[in-house]
Amino acid sequence: MATNDATGMQLDEGALSQEYFTNAVYRHWDPGAIEELDVDRERLLNADLTEEQFEGIRRTVARFGAGEESVTEDLLPLAQVSENINDQMFLSSQIYEEAKHTKFFDRYWREVIDPVAEGQGFERTAPTEDRYFNSQYTELFERTEDAMQRLLTDDTPKNRVVAYCHYHLTIESVLAQTGYYGIQSSFSESGSDEVTDEEFVELPGLVNGITKIRSDEGRHVGFGMAKVREHVQTGTVEESVVQNTLQKLLPLVAGTVNDLGVAINPDPLVEYATEKLTRRIEIIADAEAEIPPVDELVEIDDTAAQASD
Ligand SMILES: [Fe+2]
Ligand SMILES: [Fe+2]
Repeated sequence: MATNDATGMQLDEGALSQEYFTNAVYRHWDPGAIEELDVDRERLLNADLTEEQFEGIRRTVARFGAGEESVTEDLLPLAQVSENINDQMFLSSQIYEEAKHTKFFDRYWREVIDPVAEGQGFERTAPTEDRYFNSQYTELFERTEDAMQRLLTDDTPKNRVVAYCHYHLTIESVLAQTGYYGIQSSFSESGSDEVTDEEFVELPGLVNGITKIRSDEGRHVGFGMAKVREHVQTGTVEESVVQNTLQKLLPLVAGTVNDLGVAINPDPLVEYATEKLTRRIEIIADAEAEIPPVDELVEIDDTAAQASD
């Protein structure tokens, strides 16, 4: 049985991953209890909406729902090779949370997207249809799956850093945080006004779910950052591995948020993604910089989030 050497206890209360696990349990939420999906449905049913506008919303929901499904499947190899109980506990909570994110998007399709398509007289589609995914999206997720699977056959410090750079730093930090920021800006009064060109319909149900998801992602990203930083600061992996991996993936992130739909303007999003990436690299490379405390990582206020991460 694993024990914490200093105290003989099983768990290390001072470990970052144990602290994050505790925070995850404390902040538990139920995707089935997210409110106001009925408000979104009614608003979209009554909105003067073109099929093209609706297709933009639908593409966004399909793409991020599929992304959450992919990361639910792809995290397991990391949990399997992890030898520390505190890390294993955190990663278990993370897989569970990714599954909840997948569930929320699935529910949104059933309760909002499909009934609106029907009510508005638009074609009914499935969220898994090829039309919702472009080549950059597909490549980004295939590369991430490969980086995670590689750990099962070749678990080296470098391959772990490459896995964290794909999964935690690119997909979760840059892509998810950017995409969700875009959705929040487009379909609510919060976020940035530059992201949306037009007065568009507010969707409080979608924004309620995404607010919970973004908060979880803040914790996931913090964990990945801490792991990569540890390798770079102790010299087990060169900083250039981080730089090269992230720089190679950035165009795929930009391509993924580039054609979401008429309501979401990609330029400020790509700028937001680039800024986030640069800030991540600074924190990893700078011996003096610190990862913000977990309570700050899970904060959703955009001004605070941007200043701290
Ligand atoms: Fe997620
Ligand atoms: Fe996540």
